[in-house]
Amino acid sequence: MNRRYDLLIRNATIIDGARRPRYAGDIGVRAGRIADIGLLAAARAEVEIDAQGKIAAPGFIDAHTHDDRLLASDPAMTPKVSQGVTSVIAGNCGISLAPLVSASPPPPLDLIDDGGAFRFPDFASFLEELDSQPAATNVACLVGHTTLRVAAMSRFDRAATPEETARMQALAREALAAGAVGLSTGTYYPPAAHATTEEIIAVARPLKDYGGRYVTHMRHEDDRIAEAMEETFRIGREVGVPVIISHHKVVGRNNFGRSVETLALLRSAGERQSVCLDCYPYTASSTILRADRIALSSRILITWSKPHPEFAGMELAQAAAQLGLSQEQAVASLSPAGAIYFSMDEADVQRILRFDDTMIGSDGLPHDLKPHPRLWGTFARVLGHYSRDLGLFPLETAVHKMTGLTARNFGLKQRGLLKPGYWADITIFDAAEIGDAASFDQPTQKARGIDSVIVNGVPVWQNGRSTGARPGRVLRAGAAAARTRVD
Ligand code: ZN
Ligand code: CU
Repeated sequence: MNRRYDLLIRNATIIDGARRPRYAGDIGVRAGRIADIGLLAAARAEVEIDAQGKIAAPGFIDAHTHDDRLLASDPAMTPKVSQGVTSVIAGNCGISLAPLVSASPPPPLDLIDDGGAFRFPDFASFLEELDSQPAATNVACLVGHTTLRVAAMSRFDRAATPEETARMQALAREALAAGAVGLSTGTYYPPAAHATTEEIIAVARPLKDYGGRYVTHMRHEDDRIAEAMEETFRIGREVGVPVIISHHKVVGRNNFGRSVETLALLRSAGERQSVCLDCYPYTASSTILRADRIALSSRILITWSKPHPEFAGMELAQAAAQLGLSQEQAVASLSPAGAIYFSMDEADVQRILRFDDTMIGSDGLPHDLKPHPRLWGTFARVLGHYSRDLGLFPLETAVHKMTGLTARNFGLKQRGLLKPGYWADITIFDAAEIGDAASFDQPTQKARGIDSVIVNGVPVWQNGRSTGARPGRVLRAGAAAARTRVD
């Protein structure tokens, strides 16, 4: 049969994202979607890619990002497409760019601000801007509870009043109606730390009507992690929606090994409700600079500092010595600032990555001066270091954790698998070559071994660089997706 396609990938080894064993085949793409997979030797296409000796996999979905502003400020999405990512979930950890108009939002919202970034009074206007100025990748957005608190409250050192809670719930409903795929919280951070469980349940209530997810950076990831997990499960049960635990980890030397306990908790909760998690493949975390992390970390690196940008990349201990201050005092004088904390056990990270329901999410912070290498390295590191070199799981499982599993957990329709009828988000890579090059010293290095990255049928990354194409779409949930469908 002499079929014609827009794009044809020949001679690939196909890993389909559903954890099935790899097989040989060609992939024909038409009108942005996968038309056929099979032996298509006689077919012709406008654009042909020879994938001989390489893997073709579904484009990777970054389950956990803070790319809300990156989509506009670097629409090529270089840190992401260079490692094979074709879709990102934005708005994590309670931090979303909308709905909020604020010139100086409090930390941690400043992780994605450049002054003036918070300018969307409602979620619909944010998504419409993303629609009208597409990026290279697709994006699905969460609405952040901390953003809602800052929009609805004038002080954050207390629980919300019934009126403020009602206001946040209305804003959450508007976001979900516009197409947000869930609500994220970050009760670890000061602006949301005083939110009660009841406040969160009330704000999350509309999720059920829109098929949204409850996604959380929990109150505690150290000594009190079990208690924080119970709170998370309770919120999911009472609202009646799936729960996603963000960047699951156990922090602090005295908690090393406790992933045995937390994964058992997840497994038993999974028997009565829908729960899953994401994880990044490093033993160091990164967020705003905080004095209470000093005791929990063996080493702290500064990633940015507003008053002292010259300290980005330096150890906190060294910066403190230079300033003639204690580390606690240095935190105060460097803030607002960000940091990397070496505070996890490698065995815990591996145990969590291996867990069946664990998705891969980078949690990369794209606006940091000297970012954590997870921003540029996460996906290649899981495929190269953890799957191929350490043999933590087969390549088919590694791919599943960054594609099919993630699409299913976030309800992204017709994404995450190589399957006829599905959108043609495809990453072609060399299984022997794939690896992360980003390090703590040189964090903005492109991954090795990525050959081509295709979004909605259009190549966005080839020959080690961006093609300049911007075929990304906003992926909406439920009813909002049906309304805006342009198939
Ligand atoms: Zn977080
Ligand atoms: Cu995060």
